[in-house]
Parts: sequence; C-alpha cells; structure tokens
Amino acid sequence: MAITEIRPGIRYVGVNDRTTARFEALWSLPNGVSYNAYLVVGERVALIDTVEEGFGSRLLHNIREEIGDRPVDYLVINHMEPDHSSSISALRRVYPGIRIVGNAKTLQMVGGFYGIDAGTEEVREGDTLDLGGLTLSFHLAPMVHWPETMVTWCPERRTLFSGDAFGTFGALDGGLTDSQTDPDRYWDEMRRYYACIVGKYGGPVQKALAKVRALAPETICSTHGPVWQQQIGRVLDLYDRMSRYEGEPGVVIAYGSMYGNTEQMADRIARDLAEEGVRQIVVHNLSAADPSEVLRDVFRYDTLVVGGPTYNGALFPPVAQLLEMISSRCVTNRRFAWFGSFCWAGAAVRLLGEFTQRMKWEAVCDPVEMKQGFSPAVCEPCRTLARRLAERMREK
Ligand code: FEO
Repeated sequence: MAITEIRPGIRYVGVNDRTTARFEALWSLPNGVSYNAYLVVGERVALIDTVEEGFGSRLLHNIREEIGDRPVDYLVINHMEPDHSSSISALRRVYPGIRIVGNAKTLQMVGGFYGIDAGTEEVREGDTLDLGGLTLSFHLAPMVHWPETMVTWCPERRTLFSGDAFGTFGALDGGLTDSQTDPDRYWDEMRRYYACIVGKYGGPVQKALAKVRALAPETICSTHGPVWQQQIGRVLDLYDRMSRYEGEPGVVIAYGSMYGNTEQMADRIARDLAEEGVRQIVVHNLSAADPSEVLRDVFRYDTLVVGGPTYNGALFPPVAQLLEMISSRCVTNRRFAWFGSFCWAGAAVRLLGEFTQRMKWEAVCDPVEMKQGFSPAVCEPCRTLARRLAERMREK
C-alpha cells in the first residue's frame, strides 16, 4: 500500500511549502507548512479542499498519480481561506465537469473570491453525498476560524476531514500520519498554530469538539500537519484545553527593554522564581522574540508576567503589541503580575494594571515600578513579586 493511501479509498494529495516566510503574511514558518488535500475514491471521486495556488500544479500532479485520467467529480470545500481554496479555478479548468460542494456561506465566498456561480451544490448540516461505496456527510463548524468552516465525515472509514481544526505548522518531512513520523515534532507547532490562527474562537471550537467527539473518528485528516490516528486522544485533549484557555503550570515573562534596565528586572524575577522552586519559566524579550512563539507560550502556561518601560507617555510598542494580540484573542483565566520603568513620568505600570482589569485576570501581587536605572533597591520588590507568584502557584 502506498504511503499516500491513508485508509482504503482515501488518498493524500497535499503539498509542502518550505518557501513562504510568513503564513497569512504574519506568522513565521521556520519548519514550513503543509497544505493538505485528500481524495475520496469510490465509484465517483471527491477531492477534499485544494492547496495554495502557487502549488496547484503539484496538486494536479498528485491527483493524477493517484487516479490517472479518471475525472474528479466533486470538490468539497471545508474552508475558503485561500491557502486551501486558491487552486479552485485551475482545478475547474482541468476538470470542467467538477461539482463544487459547500454550504451557503462557502458558495457565497466561492463567488466573491473566484467569480464562480455555476456547477455548485449547496449542502446543509447532516446532508450526505453518495460516492458509490463510500459516503460523505457534512457538518457545520462555524468560526473555526471563519464563518463558513465545516467538517466532512466518511462513516465507512470513520475518517473526519476537519479543515484547519487540529492542524499544525510544520511541513510533512516524509511521513504523513502520526505513526509514520515523530508526533513530538508537532505539539509545539500545533500550539503555535492554534494560538495564532484559531485562538480567538474558543467557544466555537468547543462546539465543534462536541460534534467531533460524537462522531468518534479513527482518522482525522486536517488541512495542515500530520494525519492523526494514534494520537487522536491527545489531540482532542490539547484542543479542549486550549479552547477553554486552560494553562498548564508555568510562567511566561515577556518584557520590553530599551537599554537593559527593565531587562534586569525580568531576569531578577525569573531567577527569584527559580529559587522559589518554579521550574517552568520562559522569558521572552519582545523586541527580539518571534510573536507567534510568545503567543504560543501565553496559551500554554497559566501565569504571565509582563514588564516594560514607559515610552512617549505610553507602553513600549512591542509590549503594547503583545497586549493587543492577547486581548484580541480573548484569553481568559490567567494569573498576572507586572513591572515597569520610567525616566521622568511613569505610565507603563499604570497601563499594565488597567490591562489586567480589562482582561478580568487575577492580579497576583503589587507591581514593581522602577525609576531610571536598575539598582539593588529594585531587587527586594522583585523578590517579593516572585515569592508571591510562587506561593500562588503552589496554592493550586
Ligand atoms: Fe489553513 Fe484558515 O486556512
């Protein structure tokens, strides 16, 4: 059996992208990304999603390698973001008889993005498509993470085509399923993908998870990253925790610093936390860190410490950017502590306190505010902050 045959009649025809620098022109791709597409081959053939248009010819090559000159009868569109939909027009030119299957919102977008309004079939929740020997049914999963998103289920193979849900960054270096590769390569990339792309939509993800659990899939074919089979339990559990914004014990210290004074506060707090026995501590300099990695860690851990200098009477811009990324993703349930500095008039500490209130997070202790340079006088309040944080972490 070829490695591309995921289950009998289900073939992988996706591609790797190790060239694009930033996903959505925003998020770094140090390990690349895969755009996964799948064929379901019965008496008739359905393609589930396409790939980014720059890789469209590879998709067509992969399809031909699997089914030769047989036509593709249906294109099922689970998600319209162009990393999956932008090869639709090319595909229609090669397979002019193809029927495009999507829900009402999908088909509106097919028209809006690609000017296609013929050869389409609208489906609703629970509708089925008989391919002859294999069946597909369609289940809406709106706002994971676009309004039209849906998942497609093949009951005969207990296989779920889940769109972006359960996806990861990272190309598929050889193996396609989680038993053909080392799944440990992908957990951090799943967290990073979720935090950056899906993170705002915890509620809709919870609703989608309930539908997925009811189907009890044995194979999950996402649009990015490995096909899940052996690790489905862990994948669903991770998604459940991330979409409830449940952090695991650990501290992220994210700071901005112009000349190293505020940085010394961050380092001091990290050292004091370690002295208090905290073992999971991640420190990010926001002027140098990859924002997607900071967001990943904010989603991963239950405690966040943010600090920065006052700049133009406001927050230092990289600190403000982090807070905006967090608040736009509606992250809940974090313990928070903060620190800051100023030269002649303070604002950072006050503004970080206001942020805590807006987020309705737990302010664990008093902040530390430093005027001008780092000095021994700042060490004691930093130690007090770390001690109180460590005490709070031991309480739960
Ligand atoms: Fe992979 Fe939302 O696109």
